Amino acid sequence: MSAPNKDYDPVEVTPLHADEVERMRDEALAAIASADSLERLKLVSHDHAGDRSALGLANREIGALPPQARKDAGMRVGQARGAINKALAARSEILEAEYEANALVDEAVDITLPWDATPIGARHPLTTIQETVADIFVAMGWEVAEGPEVEAEWLNFDALNLGPDHPARTMQDTFWVTPEKTALVLRTHTSPVQARTMLTQEPPIYVIVPGRVFRTDELDSTHSPVFHQVEGLAIDEGLTMAHLKGTLDHFAQAIYGPGMTTRFRPSYFPFTEPSAEMDLLCYVCHNEPGAVAECRTCRGEGWVEWGGCGVVNPRVLISCGVDPGRYSGFAFGIGLDRTITGRYDIADLRDLFDGDVRFTQPFGVEL
Ligand code: PHE
Repeated sequence: MSAPNKDYDPVEVTPLHADEVERMRDEALAAIASADSLERLKLVSHDHAGDRSALGLANREIGALPPQARKDAGMRVGQARGAINKALAARSEILEAEYEANALVDEAVDITLPWDATPIGARHPLTTIQETVADIFVAMGWEVAEGPEVEAEWLNFDALNLGPDHPARTMQDTFWVTPEKTALVLRTHTSPVQARTMLTQEPPIYVIVPGRVFRTDELDSTHSPVFHQVEGLAIDEGLTMAHLKGTLDHFAQAIYGPGMTTRFRPSYFPFTEPSAEMDLLCYVCHNEPGAVAECRTCRGEGWVEWGGCGVVNPRVLISCGVDPGRYSGFAFGIGLDRTITGRYDIADLRDLFDGDVRFTQPFGVEL
């Protein structure tokens, strides 16, 4: 015989004791009150209101109680859980409001901040064009040479077959350095660097010389006493006018695009023979019948002057110690300022020299 069951006493199920339920509730409420972020509150909710929280587990015990004890215990646990859920909801509302208020502060953009008062400048188009030209020729194996801007009269003129009485000397409106006996000038073209190179290097020679030159022109929208040229000089065995034409065609196409057409017009320079002016097909109107008459860029010509060139005069080779029986060569001198004003349709040449950052800015940082 088995002994009769002892009456089931709910008080013996410890988690359901009134004190214990109260303690669990208070512990949960304290944890909720001290949760200082939504993430933290989520953890607190899991620990104190979840199915596996102490109260959640106690709740499961209720079903095992005798009916008369269930009501009391159920009410106690239900009230405690209700209080906890209410506290959770209230705390969550507060923390959410706090989070939003913080986000507004953290992510705010202060539109009253001053703009950059020292903006980065831009490279001057004269600098970039000189580098572009250098790149084009260096890619063909040429070298870049330099010479001084204050130049010996002999190199600027005499060595280039422009003797003291040569009429072409007066064509070049020269700035002379005083006193006269210094025999120095501000170079009127980059051609003296031809002479300097031949005097110091053995052929074959392939050099280009970008640089600043000076003439006593009045400053106006198409003239400047300071301007820029790029000189080219090639000295080798068997060079002809055809090599010159091919080189300049390549140069023009590298600058203006593969469709660029050039032409030679007969001309005269004491240091080249034969000599030519090289023209570019007008890059604005393309010499098209409907457009050319109105074209501002070529003034109705259909062609734009680009520079002088020719086969190096044997007299220059002799002055510079090169044997004209063995070597020949070609040379050219292209105006860089007009290349820029033409390419970018700049109406006033003076814009290139004013040093106003608002002019250079649109050229950006083209390398
Ligand atoms: N030096 C000439 C000028 O300034 C240009 C030129 C260079 C012509 C080389 C022929 C050969 O006008």
